[in-house]
Formats: sequence, structure tokens, C-alpha cells
Amino acid sequence: MLFDDVTAEIKLLKTKTGEIDSIEAQKPTDGLRDVPSQAGRKWSGVFHQVPSQGSISTINKAVVDLKDQEQTIIGRLIGGSLQLDIISIVGMPGLGKTFLADRVYRDPSITSHFHILAWCCISQVYCKKDLLLGILACIDPKAQYSEFDEDDLAHKLCKHLRKQKYLIVLDDIWDTEAWNALKISFPDDTNGSRILLTSRHHGIIGESHHLRPLDEEESWELLQKKLSITIEGGYPVELSVLGRQIAKNCNGLPLSIVIISGILGTLDQGRWEEVAERLDSNSKIGATEQCKSILELSYEHLPYHLKPCLLYFSAFREDQEISVKRLMCCGWLKDLCERRNQRALKN
Ligand SMILES: Nc1ncnc2c1ncn2[C@@H]1O[C@H](COP(=O)(O)OP(=O)(O)OP(=O)(O)O)[C@@H](O)[C@H]1O
Ligand SMILES: [Mg+2]
Repeated sequence: MLFDDVTAEIKLLKTKTGEIDSIEAQKPTDGLRDVPSQAGRKWSGVFHQVPSQGSISTINKAVVDLKDQEQTIIGRLIGGSLQLDIISIVGMPGLGKTFLADRVYRDPSITSHFHILAWCCISQVYCKKDLLLGILACIDPKAQYSEFDEDDLAHKLCKHLRKQKYLIVLDDIWDTEAWNALKISFPDDTNGSRILLTSRHHGIIGESHHLRPLDEEESWELLQKKLSITIEGGYPVELSVLGRQIAKNCNGLPLSIVIISGILGTLDQGRWEEVAERLDSNSKIGATEQCKSILELSYEHLPYHLKPCLLYFSAFREDQEISVKRLMCCGWLKDLCERRNQRALKN
């Protein structure tokens, strides 16, 4: 493709994007609620962008519906007492707590029930001011609050939430300290407002819902769905027995299945047996150790040039959104992208 053609393509894309924006602006909003994303941006009920779990096309294909779990949480959020209630989704790392909370948060029965929805990712290391700014950004994306101090922000948040039926998701909470720092901003106007927490630890605050691991069929379903995205032509039927064995040895942990699918997707199919054997030999160790071992396996199988990428990303906080601009400040990553782009253009 010539440089002029590329320029013309970019111009065309810009025009198309402008057209889509103007159609979106004119669209009637009846029956559609804007759901604040986890990063505080608004996203529409029609053109769903799923904040942390990948692109929508990938997500739709690779979801294992845990309707029983979803309905239990939704029931607890919508039903029950009018007093402010706190529900915690509890379980080990990688079990799918954030995934479940996200599914519930976007469910139409939830988005139509609450007046205000906000998502805040807490993590092990957090800054109270950033948490408050994050929640406020979900509620009032256009406002500029960064100049305010923590007390002002806590007060402003409380004012926004007063008399409103709200749902705040506090994802990945590690201790009661984080909860104590925020709770003053959550008024109880006995109108059915709710706080939904996710945590690896039981008993931090509120009633715990212990998330269950995937069963054997669900594990196999997730592995197949993930692989049908990465492998052209879908899942190889002749490898079903091996695939089932691999899925079973992930012990119902979605994170392990996701990582394993990444490894299998890039590996020659003749080598799947090696992966199955390695998992088999690990099946007696604890789930956390097993997950670490799967991560190690995934690192071993990464192409040489991607190994530093993985190490680089591990320097960021879990579930943190990373801006492309920030990534481009990293010299070798910029080089890597440019080289890939040049190769793509040549092809
Ligand atoms: N039901 C499911 N269907 C498809 N993918 C899932 C499902 N549950 C979890 N996953 C995937 O498994 C991975 C781990 O899930 P998630 O991040 O929600 O775990 P977590 O319990 O929140 O872990 P942590 O304690 O580290 O925060 C993610 O890639 C997620 O997309
Ligand atoms: Mg999580």
C-alpha cells in the first residue's frame, strides 16, 4: 500500500468516526441507561464497551454463563432490606470475582433499578483521593475535581449520593482500612442502595457470597470458547480428550484456563500432550501454587520479544487502566509496535 493510500484510508476512517458520533448524538435515549465504565467514562447501553475484560467480540464468544451466581447476586442487590446493604463476592485469586461483578453491574435489571452506578477498583495499594476521584468520575464525568482535597471529595461524593438509590462496586478490597476510608461517603437514606465488594478475603465487611469454581463441563466450555478464538477453524475435535483433561486439571479456576488457552493457542498441536502432562504432575499442589506454575509455563512459551512485555506490565497495579500514551513513553515498546506496524503495512 502506498503512503498516499494510507493517508486516504485514515481520512476516510476519520469521516466515518465523525458520522458514527453524530448518529450516536441524535439517537433517542429512551430505555437506555448510560452505564459508567470501571474507568469512569460513560459507555452506552447499545455500543457496549466492556471495560476490563477485552473487546466485546472476544467477550461474547468466551463467556461461560454462571446464571446461578449472577442471579443470586442480582437478587441480593435488588431485593431485601431498604437499608444500605453490603454484599461481598469472596474467593481465591483468579476465580472470576471481578468478572462476575462486572456481569452483574451491566445487567439491565441492575442498570434500570439503580439511579447511580459507580465502579471503583481498590487493590492492595491504593490512594484514598484517587478512589474518591474514580467514583466521582463515574457519577459526574465532566466535573473537574482533582484540585479538591480528600475531605472535600468525600463530602461531594456523599452529596451526590444523598437521596439517590445507588450501587457502588468496590473491586478487589484487601482490608477494612480501605472500607473505613470510604464508608463516610456512602449515606444510608433507607432507599435500597447497595455496595458490592469483591475480595480474596472473607469477612472484611458485609454478607459474603462465596464464589464457586467452574465445574468440569464449564471449564471445558471456557477452554473451547477461548481456543475457538485463537485457533483458526475452531477447536480441533481430535484433541477433545486431551482438552478435557487439561481443562479438568485447571481445578475450576478461570484464570488458569485463560492462561492455558493462551499457551495452547500458540503451540503446535503435537505439543499439547506436554502441557497436559505438566498440569497432571501439578494436580496435587494447592490452587495458588498451581496458578503460579501455569503462569510460569505461559512465560516459558512466550516468544522471546514478548517476555520483557509481560515483565513490564507486571510493574502496573492489577486492573489498572494503562494509557497508550504512557506505554509509548517506553522506548523499546514503541520500537516493537513500530516494527509490527511496518511489517503489517508491507504485508
Ligand atoms: N465465567 C467466566 N467466563 C469467561 N471468562 C471468565 C469467567 N470468569 C472469569 N473469567 C476470566 O478469568 C480471568 C480471571 O477472572 P477475574 O479477574 O474476574 O478473577 P478475580 O477473582 O477477580 O481475581 P483477583 O482475585 O486476582 O482479582 C479473567 O480473564 C476473566 O475474564
Ligand atoms: Mg478481581
